[in-house]
Amino acid sequence: MVKDRDAGSGTKMVQPMEQNIPQELVEAARGYESLFVPALFEQWTKHLIDGAGVAGGNAVLDIACGTGVLAREALSRAGPGGQVVGVDPAPGMLAAANEIEPQIDWVLCGAEDLELGDERFDCVISQFGMMFFQDRQRAANEMLRVLKPGGSLAIAVWNSVENNPAYADIIDVLQEQVGTAAADALRLPYSLGNTDEVTAVLVNSGFEGIGVETKVEHARFPSSRHMVEAELRGWLPLFDIFLSDDEINDVLVESDKTLSKYASTTGEAIFPTCAHIFTARKN
Ligand SMILES: C[S@@+](CC[C@H](N)C(=O)[O-])C[C@H]1O[C@@H](n2cnc3c(N)ncnc32)[C@H](O)[C@@H]1O
Repeated sequence: MVKDRDAGSGTKMVQPMEQNIPQELVEAARGYESLFVPALFEQWTKHLIDGAGVAGGNAVLDIACGTGVLAREALSRAGPGGQVVGVDPAPGMLAAANEIEPQIDWVLCGAEDLELGDERFDCVISQFGMMFFQDRQRAANEMLRVLKPGGSLAIAVWNSVENNPAYADIIDVLQEQVGTAAADALRLPYSLGNTDEVTAVLVNSGFEGIGVETKVEHARFPSSRHMVEAELRGWLPLFDIFLSDDEINDVLVESDKTLSKYASTTGEAIFPTCAHIFTARKN
């Protein structure tokens, strides 16, 4: 993955950083790619690619790229004459991303301090990362800085938890069985449901033509158990919440009852998810 400010210049400077990354981080990212990406995230990429108007030959930046599902879609739309850069502060995510698509430049940095030069991208895209940014205004300023004049932006954030009912159900179970800290950890991804906050940071940065569309897609997990267990074992530890196997089992027994309404005849958990797609341009 690329480490310096010339990233995205056309000369790929891939450093063999992967061997220094703790193996458990890479394994966790591979787990994210194999479970969460097909279940929850890949169905949204078309909205971002269309929203930003990614076209053949474009230079495209994916911010909070994770394991790169959106960046890969951008690469297929931008074609051989295009160039795609993905940035994320999680080295395990980038290592997994680079295993899947080494043609993309993967840059280890946060949205608030892009290690990239001014006015180099036709399109900036970002899906389901903004709720985790420490300083959203600074991130929006950075998005504007790296866009070429006339360039376009598309960002996806989840709608509020009331509009994502399966997650509202899991949060209720966690609140009851584990407590407020665990429930709050699962509320965080849904904290930008009110569109005013993202609109305000884009306006303050100087973006023009700001629009927002609210869309529904369907999540599809192998089972509700896969989904809940991955949250308990993969997400809660990021907030220093570690449950014993017995506690996990208790939550799963309870969530089985609540989530049975989403079970298909094959046992998959299928449910609607709702997100806002913001679009804007730099004049
Ligand atoms: C839910 S994942 C979404 C990943 C990817 N966009 C996708 O659709 O699969 C959220 C990502 O935001 C990243 N992230 C968290 N804080 C960030 C920050 N300050 N700047 C950029 N990315 C950040 C995480 O490392 C993680 O990869």
